[in-house]
Amino acid sequence: MKSPNTPRRRVTAGLAAVVATAALGVGSITIAGAQAPATSSGIVLGVGANPSQRVVSWYTSANTAQSVQVAPTAQLVDGAFPANAPTYPATVAANTVNGGFNGHAIVDGLQENTAYSYRVGADGAWSATYAFKTQKFDGSFDFLFFGDPQIGSSGDTAKDGAGWADTLDVALTANPDTELLVSGGDQVETANTESQWTAFLGSDRLRQYPWAATIGNHDVGGKAYDQHFWTPNTDRSAPFYSGNQASQSGGDYWYVYKDALFIHLNSNAYNNGSDAAHVGYIRDVLAAHGDEAKYKVLVYHHAIYSPASHANDSDNQVRRRDFPTAFSELGIDLVLQGHDHSYSRSYALKNGQKANPDEQPGASQVTQGPGGVIYVTANSASGSKYYDLTTPRAGSDFGPDPLDPTGKRHYANSIEDQEHVRTYVRVEVRKDALLVENIRSGTCAAPNAAVERNNVSWCGPSNGARPAEPVGSRVDKVLIHRAAAPPVDTTVGGSVPATLSLTLGAPATFGVFTPGLGKDYTASTTATVVSTAGDATLSATDPSSTAPGRLVNGAFSLASPLQVGGAALPATVKTYAGPVSNDNVAIDFTQPISASEALRTGTYAKSLTFTLSTTTP
Ligand SMILES: [Fe+2]
Repeated sequence: MKSPNTPRRRVTAGLAAVVATAALGVGSITIAGAQAPATSSGIVLGVGANPSQRVVSWYTSANTAQSVQVAPTAQLVDGAFPANAPTYPATVAANTVNGGFNGHAIVDGLQENTAYSYRVGADGAWSATYAFKTQKFDGSFDFLFFGDPQIGSSGDTAKDGAGWADTLDVALTANPDTELLVSGGDQVETANTESQWTAFLGSDRLRQYPWAATIGNHDVGGKAYDQHFWTPNTDRSAPFYSGNQASQSGGDYWYVYKDALFIHLNSNAYNNGSDAAHVGYIRDVLAAHGDEAKYKVLVYHHAIYSPASHANDSDNQVRRRDFPTAFSELGIDLVLQGHDHSYSRSYALKNGQKANPDEQPGASQVTQGPGGVIYVTANSASGSKYYDLTTPRAGSDFGPDPLDPTGKRHYANSIEDQEHVRTYVRVEVRKDALLVENIRSGTCAAPNAAVERNNVSWCGPSNGARPAEPVGSRVDKVLIHRAAAPPVDTTVGGSVPATLSLTLGAPATFGVFTPGLGKDYTASTTATVVSTAGDATLSATDPSSTAPGRLVNGAFSLASPLQVGGAALPATVKTYAGPVSNDNVAIDFTQPISASEALRTGTYAKSLTFTLSTTTP
């Protein structure tokens, strides 16, 4: 993490006592009679309610008026923000963990395809400047999903932080245009240990790409999670907490990002009706916003089809009863989970059972079918802790897959993998499919804390029998096609009835004829032609026997014939060599009147007949 900018301290005569550590300028300051500028730390860019929003959260030393200042990077001059750069006022609240304060601000009204710079604080005490970019606000995009950084769990916070920062670097160097970093939960090992949070937030990548936080079992036991991450559309009702809301973090939240609707659940809350409340929350969000996105993605920590140590946990058995049928009925496409520090990708599961009996293990293309849900569990993104795959218990609710002759893979999972190397999941949200990949971000070499510290005894594929694959190689890659009904042969056809249809627009009028003025008066109307015939002719005739082809006014008629489309009546207006639908035809009328022509008071008019006819019906 960059050091925050050293705030400029104005010492005024009003100060009775000032104690400051001068060396770095970020030490403690005690002031009486005036308020010190706040210093900020732990700045993190968060996901907003939609692609035109971002949320910035941070810790701050004082409860002063603060904001996030944002400007298109192109408008900065030598790093200086333009004088009119907008600021988004922060909400600052007392921090119940570290005794200081925490702030957040919602940055909205962002434009598409723009590189922005931002900083937090206030005049005289701005943080360093960070940057993010927006892309198109609709259509396809990709995001990255990270399992359990759980900084501190290896026993060495610095090593865990180094592995985590390296995974972020590797993933974002390979995917610079990715749009979201989605959390699988367990940001840290110990909920309120701020040194672990500092290591978690050490990479500037978390100030450049929006982090979509998910709460894990290691985050839930304190308020640090809530105070580090402000999330949009968050429901903080009691069922979405697993304990005392004053001392625990929690809540469910959602947002729409382009073609995907994300719903994050606090899966720590599952007892006492919480699972039913989660399902109700999903149902309500989908009812109100389900039509705003093509794909529905659920994110929560406790993987229900865990491949490793947590596979048979009693709480997961409860979730396996409570969730799968509801998720299928609600049309969830993808479920992203953590907690088991191993990778798994399920078959398309309908109501918790294989949707398509023919789906083969490790298939690179899957069609979900109606109600088919894919469940992914992420491996450790930091290398702080790995769990080894476990053998499914025959006869349990999570037994072996009959398609696996070794009996080692659980029935729900198409792939299970553990190599003791760091990985991350990349998801591409396409128009007609989701692409899911599990990608290695490290090898057996450092930074890989669990291996470095001998917390695990082997490393590499096949339980260490083979050397590690290179960084960037894939553990898994699957293209998940949208729901489709099973194929049924049928003939497609339709018949066309013989149609000749003619619709005329408003009657044409020449307006006023001025006696003594030589002029060609003009008027027009329209016709709409539909014909299924092999040919067609639109013609105009004068059916009257009184002065045929001329406008009449009682016994009087005009000297010159009325012209339709430039020709005297009967006139051919338009011909068609084939069928036509809704052809709009402009019909022009011309009436020449000479300067010497005598005109009788009244209206000169004629009713004409338009006919659409064919010789090859
Ligand atoms: Fe974990």
